[in-house]
Amino acid sequence: MRMHKTAGSLYLMWDPDTPDAKPKYVSYKVDINSCGPMMLDVLFKIKDEQDQTLSFRRSCREGICGSCAMNIDGTNNLACLAKVDRDPSTPSKIAPLPHMFVVKDLVVDMSNFYAQYKSIKPYLQKHQPSGGQEWYQSKESRAKLDGMYECILCACCSTSCPSYWWNQDKYLGPAVLLAAYRWVIDSRDDFTSERLAALDDMYKLYRCKTIMNCAQVCPKGLNPGKAIAKLKQSLHQGAPV
Ligand code: FES
Repeated sequence: MRMHKTAGSLYLMWDPDTPDAKPKYVSYKVDINSCGPMMLDVLFKIKDEQDQTLSFRRSCREGICGSCAMNIDGTNNLACLAKVDRDPSTPSKIAPLPHMFVVKDLVVDMSNFYAQYKSIKPYLQKHQPSGGQEWYQSKESRAKLDGMYECILCACCSTSCPSYWWNQDKYLGPAVLLAAYRWVIDSRDDFTSERLAALDDMYKLYRCKTIMNCAQVCPKGLNPGKAIAKLKQSLHQGAPV
């Protein structure tokens, strides 16, 4: 979608009801002085006033739900946190997350991403049931989870990664590996070695080539590449690092 601001925006449009039609960029002129400052505000304005068929996901408008991830001016970002470039001479360009199957317009199919997330068992695993008691953790152990638990699974990082573009059927990608490391180093979890063993695979983990696009685009400022390096180091040493 190309947005001519002063009166501008462009988004990539594809309609499943006409599947033979090629995806195309559609241009809109938008008065950005009469809407909120974020790209999501502009998308709402277009949908409300010019094109009610425009499809995009959103929920929280606060950078928490992760559903409004898209490619804005060449970089994956959350539309609700992305300020509109106010230079009227440069149209903004909006597209779906790269290398994902498109459901419609800016909505992509997240099924594979969610299945990969499920595959790493993103929950506490214990040998014995708790019997209703809480599993305590020291402040120091809890602090190790900082920089990981904040991930909102928007997939901005995974869909900016060339290794994920070409091998997303086998490579887990940065977001899922960040979550995997979060559980590997959780002091309360009893299945650390099993978690590591499940990742010891030339595609699932080692397809990461340390390109680091993931850390550059994460809208929450996280560093999945560092977590992946720690996973590789943990496997090398046979214990979490
Ligand atoms: Fe929830 Fe943007 S709408 S992260």
